[in-house]
Amino acid sequence: MRQIKREFELRDQEFQYIRDLVMTQTGIVVSENKQELIYSRLSKRVRALNLGGFDDYIDLLEDGRNKDEMVAFVNAITTNLTAFFREGHHFDYLRDHALPKIMERNRQSRKIRIWSAGCSTGEEAYSIAMVLAEKLGFDTWDWRILATDIDTDVLSSANSRIYSADRVTGIDAQRLQRWFRKGGGRNQGLVQIAKELNDRISFKQLNLVKPWPIKNEFDIIFCRNVVIYFDVPTQKRIFDGYARHLAGHGNLFIGHSESLHKVTNRFESLGHTVYKKRDS
Ligand SMILES: C[S@@+](CC[C@H](N)C(=O)[O-])C[C@H]1O[C@@H](n2cnc3c(N)ncnc32)[C@H](O)[C@@H]1O
Repeated sequence: MRQIKREFELRDQEFQYIRDLVMTQTGIVVSENKQELIYSRLSKRVRALNLGGFDDYIDLLEDGRNKDEMVAFVNAITTNLTAFFREGHHFDYLRDHALPKIMERNRQSRKIRIWSAGCSTGEEAYSIAMVLAEKLGFDTWDWRILATDIDTDVLSSANSRIYSADRVTGIDAQRLQRWFRKGGGRNQGLVQIAKELNDRISFKQLNLVKPWPIKNEFDIIFCRNVVIYFDVPTQKRIFDGYARHLAGHGNLFIGHSESLHKVTNRFESLGHTVYKKRDS
């Protein structure tokens, strides 16, 4: 391992312990060359807790009584990069193809259920909500979004509805005007999303590699840029789980660098990382 002068020493066996713990707690595969990343994410915890080094930090994590630190550990490890209308073609597909089909199918129940799995700070779920609100309004359809993540910090941030103004620069003016309010005074530089969108979203903690406390069937599942961090058997378990929770007419959206090829045969590609369930 490359030795750099650091505030704390991260010994090889400590790094190996942390890699294993990340895998069992989150499913995320930390490759051998990611010592720097682990150091930069976790040295903050060692410092915040006033510990002498990674050996003390591991002792703390091993002591099963410290549940709070395990939460902070997981929160520190996750990568939460996201954006409003990221991979914008999915939102066009949602509006122009997926929703009309679901509306036809669900015309009796007038219910639509969508899951944003690995929702990070909420931009994906709010983008979905904007599309639904613009197409369906709030009165005639009971549409709801479940937005889940393993990381409790990102979920609190999502629920606050507050974003830095530079996060919304790519959103078109009409949408901005309709769904965002600019902060003034000490909230200068911030924007807040409309509460009526948040009212349709349940942000909940859910670890995709542990049993899911979910009974519902969803019309659409978004799981984008999440499984990229998992090994193939874990990806397979998750996608097979989505197949069980997706309605027959539903769609699965995955990230542009992800693929179901050689992972699961439960889905059929419709192109551009949009899938439907294969007839069984
Ligand atoms: C890169 S973000 C993707 C956000 C959004 N889906 C997008 O495409 O913009 C990946 C998210 O997956 C979450 N994640 C990682 N491991 C997870 C797990 N085991 N269960 C649930 N969420 C997880 C992370 O906390 C992070 O917020």
